[in-house]
Amino acid sequence: MSHIPHTPVPEDLSRPVPMTLPRLAEKRQLGEPIVMITAYDYPSAQVAEEAGVDIVLVGDSGAMTVLGYPSTVPVSTDEMLMLAAAVRRGLKTPLLVGDLPFGSYEASDEQAIRTAQRFVKEAGCDAVKLERGGTSVQRAKAIAESGIPVMGHVGLTPQTATALGGHRAQGRTAERALQVARDAVALQEAGCFSIVFEAIPAAVAQELMERLDVPVIGIGAGPATDGQVLVFHDLLGIYDGHVARFVKRYAETKAQMVAGVAEYTEDVRRRAFPTPEHTYTIDEDELARFRAALT
Ligand code: KIV
Repeated sequence: MSHIPHTPVPEDLSRPVPMTLPRLAEKRQLGEPIVMITAYDYPSAQVAEEAGVDIVLVGDSGAMTVLGYPSTVPVSTDEMLMLAAAVRRGLKTPLLVGDLPFGSYEASDEQAIRTAQRFVKEAGCDAVKLERGGTSVQRAKAIAESGIPVMGHVGLTPQTATALGGHRAQGRTAERALQVARDAVALQEAGCFSIVFEAIPAAVAQELMERLDVPVIGIGAGPATDGQVLVFHDLLGIYDGHVARFVKRYAETKAQMVAGVAEYTEDVRRRAFPTPEHTYTIDEDELARFRAALT
């Protein structure tokens, strides 16, 4: 057998390293904050990529922010898969998590596994997320055992907001906080690699952090969680529906978009656009030949 010399390939340190589950767990251990954001299409994925976030969630919040539904409930698996596949095409580095929509996983373990597999096979997701404790714990276990990483979601779970009394903070009495605690621990025991805490008191989240080992990502759960998540359209001021208390706006993008489109509208109407710089030319001789050929 001929000897093949081993030439070490120099590591390209400028290239971002793709996020993995062990790296997320390590971030928790090291106390390094984990950054998660939602995305729903190719350009928002590219923004998340370039900004260097750790996790991108194709949230079912896209039902409202990009599809215009009044809540997250009506969105279908096929609609979510189309959004997730577009995000996949714009993303290289962050972990991509697909949100299982309402009605796509609750009925049976088989249904949950089948839907989760579609997110992985058809949209290229690395993991899926589902909402609630209760029967969702068994569904999370089944999906995790089938080999697909699952993220849990407790506290305010918008898919079942009606049963929770509306889109309001959860865990604000000892009993309700205990329920959130039970759900979170059960999801961890079921094999979830991470859990989202949504809209619970900061003090409750802080108590729970000591009782959980997996990375916890908060949205409206205060500063004690391992990471934070915000909805892309809330953060950038693109969506002007109801803005929850926990949203911090980092830009007013919709106002800028409206101003841009209004200026374009005005320019077209007063014939100020297009100008020569946005126009193609043709050689005079070619134009003359063209005119002659037309007659
Ligand atoms: O759908 C979504 O955007 C979410 C986040 C708020 C966690 O579930």
